[in-house]
Amino acid sequence: LADTYFLFSGLIGRSWAMVFAAGGFKVKLYDIAQQQLTSALENIRKQMKELEESRFLKGTLSAEQQLALISICTDLKAAVEGATFIQECTPENLELKKKIFGQLDLIVGDKVILSSSTSCLLPSKLFTGLKHVKQCIVSHPVNPPYFVPLVEIVPHPETDPSTTERTYALMKKIGQSPVKLNREIEGFVLNRLQYAVISEAWRLVGEGVVSPTDLDLVMSDGLGMRYAFIGPLETMHLNAEGISYYCERYREGMRHVLNTFGSVPEFSGEIEQKINQAMSEKIPVVPKVLDARRKWRDECLTGLAKLKRKMKSD
Ligand code: NAI
Repeated sequence: LADTYFLFSGLIGRSWAMVFAAGGFKVKLYDIAQQQLTSALENIRKQMKELEESRFLKGTLSAEQQLALISICTDLKAAVEGATFIQECTPENLELKKKIFGQLDLIVGDKVILSSSTSCLLPSKLFTGLKHVKQCIVSHPVNPPYFVPLVEIVPHPETDPSTTERTYALMKKIGQSPVKLNREIEGFVLNRLQYAVISEAWRLVGEGVVSPTDLDLVMSDGLGMRYAFIGPLETMHLNAEGISYYCERYREGMRHVLNTFGSVPEFSGEIEQKINQAMSEKIPVVPKVLDARRKWRDECLTGLAKLKRKMKSD
């Protein structure tokens, strides 16, 4: 792969741009709104400088060197010129994304990879009928991708295996942690796991078993402590003498508990109010407070990323 990439400059686009630049790649940011591009550059500069000062900047290049790799562009044709990988980051709207991929399909060559950041739109909805469908793929990041490395790579049934392999290799190269889905499925893998957790959390609070803040503590001071390092399957493996022993010992119990799970919640009404009230008491829904809490979350994630790196090299 050559070294030019171009993206769209919203929240996720900016974060992707920083990840690519940290990997030493040239980035062209494209957006329909010029103002969005100017503010994206300012925002990236500010973030990189802060990260450099706190020694959290990724990669081997300085902030200035990384910034020099990023340019902006308001003309789609000019943006695509020379690009080998296009990471689309427009709003989560099927019609809009289809329109953009339709436009790209008309102007790209046969080598470039067309990748979408979509969180839940299936590749078959996004890419079917495109001339360059073999070069299309979903690379779903986790917010914020600069601090959370996972990327779900989801091919269209007609995606060429080499597109999947090249995308996987590229994600590795820029320091992300890619996983490949063998076929598309609603919610991909991350959101299916996340929704399973959210729905049981909702039911437990709804049934009055536990308070909203205590529910969150079960994850942050309980399950989450392990999950930052090992997944649920390895957890099973280690919690007994291997998976077979675990199943032998806990199969019945797990099935018993799972059979008591309720139906899919409505996510509305009284339970929504109750959870909203508890969360808003702790973190008022005011931009300043939310931003401060997000900043603290990102600092936690950066510290955790450092610890994970250290634990791996030990
Ligand atoms: P955003 O609203 O912050 O950014 C969207 C950008 O697209 C804006 O800069 C906007 O000016 C630009 N845009 C709108 N119409 C356009 C057009 N016709 N041509 C070019 N640019 C256009 O949205 P965000 O949150 O960055 O999401 C982008 C994508 O990333 C979505 O598909 C979303 O599902 C996905 N994603 C978002 C995550 C999140 O937590 N925010 C996490 C993982 C994926």
